[in-house]
Amino acid sequence: MTAAPLILLKDIWYFALPGAALKPGGTKAKILLGEPVLFGRTKPKDGGPGDVFAVRDICPHRGVPLSEGSFDGQEVQCPYHGWKFGPSGQCTHIPSLVEGQDFDIAKIKVRRYPVREQNGLVWIWMGKDEPDQEPPGLPELPADLRPTLTKAMLFPCNMDHAVVGLMDPAHVPFIHRSWYWRTGPIKLKTKAKEFGPSPYGFTMKRHKPAITLAYRILGAAPETEISFRLPGVRIEHIRIGANSVWNFTAVTPIDDTQTEVSNLFFWTTPWLGLLKPIALFVMDHFLGQDRDILIRQQRGLKYDPTLMLIRDTDTQARWYYQLKNEYLRAREEGRPFVNAVKDTVLRWRS
Ligand code: FES
Ligand SMILES: [Fe+2]
Repeated sequence: MTAAPLILLKDIWYFALPGAALKPGGTKAKILLGEPVLFGRTKPKDGGPGDVFAVRDICPHRGVPLSEGSFDGQEVQCPYHGWKFGPSGQCTHIPSLVEGQDFDIAKIKVRRYPVREQNGLVWIWMGKDEPDQEPPGLPELPADLRPTLTKAMLFPCNMDHAVVGLMDPAHVPFIHRSWYWRTGPIKLKTKAKEFGPSPYGFTMKRHKPAITLAYRILGAAPETEISFRLPGVRIEHIRIGANSVWNFTAVTPIDDTQTEVSNLFFWTTPWLGLLKPIALFVMDHFLGQDRDILIRQQRGLKYDPTLMLIRDTDTQARWYYQLKNEYLRAREEGRPFVNAVKDTVLRWRS
């Protein structure tokens, strides 16, 4: 099997950044899917929480990034000639215009991208048309819960390698080794996991995970359910008695060669907050191990080798490519998306 040509889906919600990264009156510039985007959060005069917005980070006048300018909480001002734009992208002021000059600033707009903020997660829609769906929610997540831990890492590879690398179970015993987890000689165990289709993706059905140190700290026998969804969102819901932990991972393309991987945790158990420093260390370590092997993989990929996806460890990766192709085709043909994943048990040793 050859490397599938990279397709970046456009008409879909991508995780952009944690809402906490945007204070009222603040902005953040990012490149997403090869496009410069300026995120901001308004600062309402009544002191409200403010709304997140996203506009193309290029002034329509002479191309200066708007992020080089300023934001007063209501309008973004370009530093070059001082044009101002509202959160909708509408130009509101051109300082050089003289009274009576016949110029309709209502026609001047910078592209605005639809955004949504839910549970402290900011999503962006970069498609041509307005969104016709909503971003994914997390199962059973209370509406007022915000992430407790947030980590983002830049992977120097395209989105597909990042997604496939994160969902592949066979690398775990080889790559995720550390003094506190999986020490000593590599020992593999036979695993059998039930999978089934779920919206725009698939789910590893609720099961009791192997007790590892991390789970042992949490106490009672946990149960976990892991779902993957296009474009690159993995949601693990761990139930421990009456409490829950959600591990949210999102893969967002910066461009064709760089990808941001974000990992956020939500939990309903306040005392878990005590473990924050340890958890951050572990997240950094694990994600760093995934990134490091992908960096090494790039050294081989530059020779454009033929790649393989074998059963059953790479079945999730196959599904990912199938789902993505189907998503693209269904949009092009203007028909409903058909999920080809069937209920099945995948077996592997890891
Ligand atoms: S380039 Fe932005 S105002 Fe002229
Ligand atoms: Fe990994």
